[in-house]
Amino acid sequence: MNIITSSIDAIVDLVLGVPRPEYHRTNEDLLAIVTGLDIREGDDVLAVAGSGDQSFAMLERGAKVTAVDYSREQFRFMKKRVKFLLEGDRRRFLLAGENRHLGVRPGDYFSEELVERIIENINNLKILCPGDFLQTLASFPKGSFNKVYLSNIYSMQSLSFDVLSESVRYVRSQGLIYQALPVHKDTPNVDLELINRARELESKNKFTNFNWKPTVIRVP
Ligand SMILES: C[S@@+](CC[C@H](N)C(=O)[O-])C[C@H]1O[C@@H](n2cnc3c(N)ncnc32)[C@H](O)[C@@H]1O
Repeated sequence: MNIITSSIDAIVDLVLGVPRPEYHRTNEDLLAIVTGLDIREGDDVLAVAGSGDQSFAMLERGAKVTAVDYSREQFRFMKKRVKFLLEGDRRRFLLAGENRHLGVRPGDYFSEELVERIIENINNLKILCPGDFLQTLASFPKGSFNKVYLSNIYSMQSLSFDVLSESVRYVRSQGLIYQALPVHKDTPNVDLELINRARELESKNKFTNFNWKPTVIRVP
């Protein structure tokens, strides 16, 4: 079975013209993310890029998204997916995010209608050169963003708490910060209503055995 799926993956990579990096589809729930961040038209979001799925979901809702990832492979992969969209190649855009091991397809979330809206809004996406998230955030004037999507980089850093507390300093008042994991119970400014909505959606996530427990912070 593994040999078969690996061979299929190799063929898919050939068709795509780019080797798929470690994160070629999100294992978080996209609806939980756009709901938890209360994504609306005109939002200015700084997002961890990964596969790009999360940024595409935010674009579909009308947000302006700046995406960054320190991995060159993820950067190239996301750029390639954007190229597919610009060429109107919907099939390869979706194929890029397939994960045969999990048996999921990005088309499960990105219906035809959603993909059309992503294409319409594609100019609202800016993919930055590979770089560290916090350094990137600090390179913008304070208040450049009203929403920040941190995925689970919080758990990947030795300076994990800095990611959250620093983000708070750069986001506009009443803005939102979403991260995929729970934080300490005494963390200030959590938005319980948004957390509950996001967690309920995430708990129904059929794409992974792992249930994220997202946290949403509302900046004072
Ligand atoms: C947080 S990971 C985990 C996967 C995630 N749960 C998903 O659904 O895709 C997503 C991306 O974050 C990137 N990343 C992690 N720490 C980072 C940092 N400090 N700065 C920039 N990118 C980072 C990784 O390279 C990876 O592509």
